Amino acid sequence: MIIRKETKSDYENVREVIQSAFSKRLKPGDKFNEWGVVHAVRNSDSYINELSLVAEINGRIVGHIMFTPLTINDGINTFDSLALGPVSVKKDFQNQGVGTRLVNEGILAAKKLGYQSIIVLGDYKYYSRFGFGPASKWHIGLDGDFNCKYLSALELVENGLKGISGNIRYCPEFYNEKGELI
Ligand SMILES: CC(C)(COP(=O)(O)OP(=O)(O)OC[C@H]1O[C@@H](n2cnc3c(N)ncnc32)[C@H](O)[C@@H]1OP(=O)(O)O)[C@@H](O)C(=O)NCCC(=O)NCCS
Repeated sequence: MIIRKETKSDYENVREVIQSAFSKRLKPGDKFNEWGVVHAVRNSDSYINELSLVAEINGRIVGHIMFTPLTINDGINTFDSLALGPVSVKKDFQNQGVGTRLVNEGILAAKKLGYQSIIVLGDYKYYSRFGFGPASKWHIGLDGDFNCKYLSALELVENGLKGISGNIRYCPEFYNEKGELI
């Protein structure tokens, strides 16, 4: 399995991966879906190509992960962090370690780029294996909910989240016209 940065020529294959993983019919321009977000990010200042990775097996794209800039605001200060997701593995390749490789390689790449922490919204059971802890530990929350069981955080350097708390804010592409998280 090769993990590498995505290129424009991967976009169509990545769309298939996301569609397969999330079992939805998605096409470019669709709103309120994972593919729509990924594609919107690519055309924005929030795009980090070094942190938009694909997993390739025998020349086939079977997985994808994207990290985007995220901020944490405590009402006075705004701190920079990184959002993990979406991460997608093609249905027939799930539970074979592809997601694990994508997350681990993404974490390594984020460290190399100098990021201090990563936030993820998802199943704690899955992300805890990578060292994520409950975001509530740092009083980091979503829309004022500081006990959100789906929100986890990872320090990439020692004390990477020391003194950092508040509400998370994804990059603009993650919100619909009403300001709701897609
Ligand atoms: C979640 C996902 C990325 C994991 O990738 P994967 O390649 O299937 O996972 P891995 O093979 O690396 O790891 C398998 C382990 O993860 C667990 N797992 C898989 N999907 C999970 C999920 N949604 N929630 C919790 N645990 C999950 C499996 O039970 C397995 O556990 P085990 O090691 O204890 O047996 C993939 O299943 C997927 O694309 N799911 C649909 C899309 C999605 O929900 N994405 C995450 C939210 S953005």
